[in-house]
Amino acid sequence: MQQMTLTRPDDWHLHVRTGDMLKTVINHTARQFARAIIMPNLQPPVTTVAQALNYQQEIRQATDNAYDFTPLMTLYLTNHTSIKEIKQAAASPFVHAFKLYPAGATTNSNQGVTNLEAMSPVFSAMQEHDIPLLIHGEVTDADIDIFDRERIFIEQKLYPLQQNFPGLRIVLEHVTTEEAVQFVQEMPDTIAATITPQHLMYNRNAILVGGIKPHYYCLPILKRERHRRSLIQAAISGNPKFFLGTDSAPHLSHLKENDCGCAGCYSAYAAIELYAEVFDNENALDKLEGFASFYGADFYKLPRNTAQITLEKTAWQVPAYYPVSTTNQLTPLKAGETLHWQLKG
Ligand code: DOR
Ligand code: ZN
Repeated sequence: MQQMTLTRPDDWHLHVRTGDMLKTVINHTARQFARAIIMPNLQPPVTTVAQALNYQQEIRQATDNAYDFTPLMTLYLTNHTSIKEIKQAAASPFVHAFKLYPAGATTNSNQGVTNLEAMSPVFSAMQEHDIPLLIHGEVTDADIDIFDRERIFIEQKLYPLQQNFPGLRIVLEHVTTEEAVQFVQEMPDTIAATITPQHLMYNRNAILVGGIKPHYYCLPILKRERHRRSLIQAAISGNPKFFLGTDSAPHLSHLKENDCGCAGCYSAYAAIELYAEVFDNENALDKLEGFASFYGADFYKLPRNTAQITLEKTAWQVPAYYPVSTTNQLTPLKAGETLHWQLKG
């Protein structure tokens, strides 16, 4: 296939930050996607409907008017999130979910939840008001190996949560393991998952073989090859529980190339093109539209998009970096490499 047209996709997991970084990245997303679920892990985090509306305004102002793009807002769950806030969020047409970061799990998660069990009233209200819970599914115990953190979270935290709140819609974000795929497949339709391009394209060798490669470092961390294969099978299966969420997470290059480098891969510049490459390599381009454009909208109970995009099989070179300011830059995933699909127009 040399060209394909599909319904305009949505990105169901995206970090865009604020200020110069926001201005650098937002039009990369808006050029491809109709909507994106915007992560609330700013410093300070987006915890109220009022803050989410301000943030949405800032995103809209940074977006080129030429694009028809809607940022879908989320709120950051803390130990202090009130039932009132849950009701307000569920009633707001702009806020679409709450994001649960276990405290300490990842970037700007220090104000995240420290004790899941204590959050039952909040989960109960979310279930009642039918607003989805998006989960960064990793335990944070110092004695748990970083490669096991997702699997153990599922066993110890997610399974009981699902049992206690069977009506609560949950997205297990950025799944990285065979165990996560299996869990999502076996659960009722209230449980879904997003899959990132980096977890479909790379295993943990990418970070560690031939020198430490900080631009492949994200959380949850890349896993073994068998896990990558399992994610690919899930993504191309046509199972509507698995849909597109890039987790594109921009950090300035020097903050990743650092003694203590930040976690996150910047993929938004070519997200749909990266997924197209993965699906093409598996001879599964016919499954891309469901994954990228339908299943997420259905899960969030939002209308499917009607506009279309066209991708062309044309080689192009990824820039070495994108300038963010006069002194700072952003290194994209696959910097300097060749991609084989390109969005037309
Ligand atoms: O790699 C990641 N980066 N994982 C996350 O969960 C957060 C994200 C970020 O915000 O940088
Ligand atoms: Zn994320």
